[in-house]
Amino acid sequence: MKDKKIIVGVTGGIAAYKAAELVRILARAGAHIQVAMTASATKFVAPLTFETVSGNRVVWDMFDRGTAPLDHIQLGQESDLIIVAPATANFIAKMAHGIADDFLSTMVLAATARILVCPSMNSQMFVNPVVQENLKRIAGMGSVIMEPGEGELACQTEGPGRLPEPEDIAEQARMLLSQQDLSGLKVLVTSGATIESIDPVRYITNRSTGKMGYALARAARLRGASVTLVSGPTALEPPYGVQVREIKTAEEMKQAVFDNHTDSDIIIKAAAVSDYRPRNSAQQKIKKGEESLTLDLVRNPDILEELGKAKTDSGYTLVGFAAETEELLKNATEKLRKKNLDIIVANDVSREDAGFESDTNLVKIIYRDGSIEELPLMTKDDVANHLLDRIKELREGGS
Ligand code: CTP
Repeated sequence: MKDKKIIVGVTGGIAAYKAAELVRILARAGAHIQVAMTASATKFVAPLTFETVSGNRVVWDMFDRGTAPLDHIQLGQESDLIIVAPATANFIAKMAHGIADDFLSTMVLAATARILVCPSMNSQMFVNPVVQENLKRIAGMGSVIMEPGEGELACQTEGPGRLPEPEDIAEQARMLLSQQDLSGLKVLVTSGATIESIDPVRYITNRSTGKMGYALARAARLRGASVTLVSGPTALEPPYGVQVREIKTAEEMKQAVFDNHTDSDIIIKAAAVSDYRPRNSAQQKIKKGEESLTLDLVRNPDILEELGKAKTDSGYTLVGFAAETEELLKNATEKLRKKNLDIIVANDVSREDAGFESDTNLVKIIYRDGSIEELPLMTKDDVANHLLDRIKELREGGS
């Protein structure tokens, strides 16, 4: 998003107030935001609100010559993206039929930038065939349409027509601004800890939060891949546009992975799987008794190892993570060989700023041919993108 030029077009619907939050998110991400409003939009939210959150003058009057008049032709041709949010039925109709009777509609008609349209209106209006036809028409002409959310609307009806959450609109915008170099690929990511029940109130788990796996799923999606995320219990929000399959135990994770593995081009196992589970999970809460208690544990399947065995030469690229507290390279390299991986990401989890719970990570990428790339300390988002670059190069026969 950094330094991208984005125009946010606000039209006259009650959801106009949510556009202020969208502008704030985009501006915080480093984009240069220019807001253009229709005259009706200014009845819902004062332009001053948008001027404050964008840090730039807001334009709504075609004939305002102001101190530095904005050119409606140049603006839409020099920007990287135009987002119309909310887009009313009226504005969508104007876009579909080339009506240019104010600043925003004229700018959109003359624009060469990509246009993201976020419809928001009463659900009866939204399902009206006229609106649906108009949406189809503008999609056919290259605009990207975001599905409205469903639920209770401001007009006290239920159904489709809610403006998507500003965070989701921003993610869709990020996607449109990102290089789609993984488009056409199916990526399966596993993430977080598994939990193994001891009794109805207790379980065995580990310190993994899922941050690395979620960063990978999100990055792959932003780069155009179709992503399935098999996730252990987590406090994280599911990444926008990613299909999430929630699991609890290692057995459930195995099932979810093997439901998807043959269909995947890339499998990344960032999950911290419990190696053992109690032989029997007690039906009732275990009561306090003797001074010591021994739990009888049995081995869980090694999902990654089974994926390694099932891999064919033309099959998926298989990437594992190695969480180590000592002899990082030796242990990680052994895992790469034993589990028949293409890449293993070695992670020293004894450090505060790397591994579990942290937003940053310090990893070494190890390849089958024994070569090693040491990455500096970076955010998990950056590690994710770096790793995806390397996986892509490997698949294309480089590296
Ligand atoms: N893994 C798995 N199934 C398991 C255990 C691990 O799929 N039952 C995967 C993890 O998702 C990770 C890799 O194997 O990608 C290495 O996991 P790690 O916990 O570092 O090592 P283990 O193989 O469990 O070996 P150890 O616990 O002895 O270090």
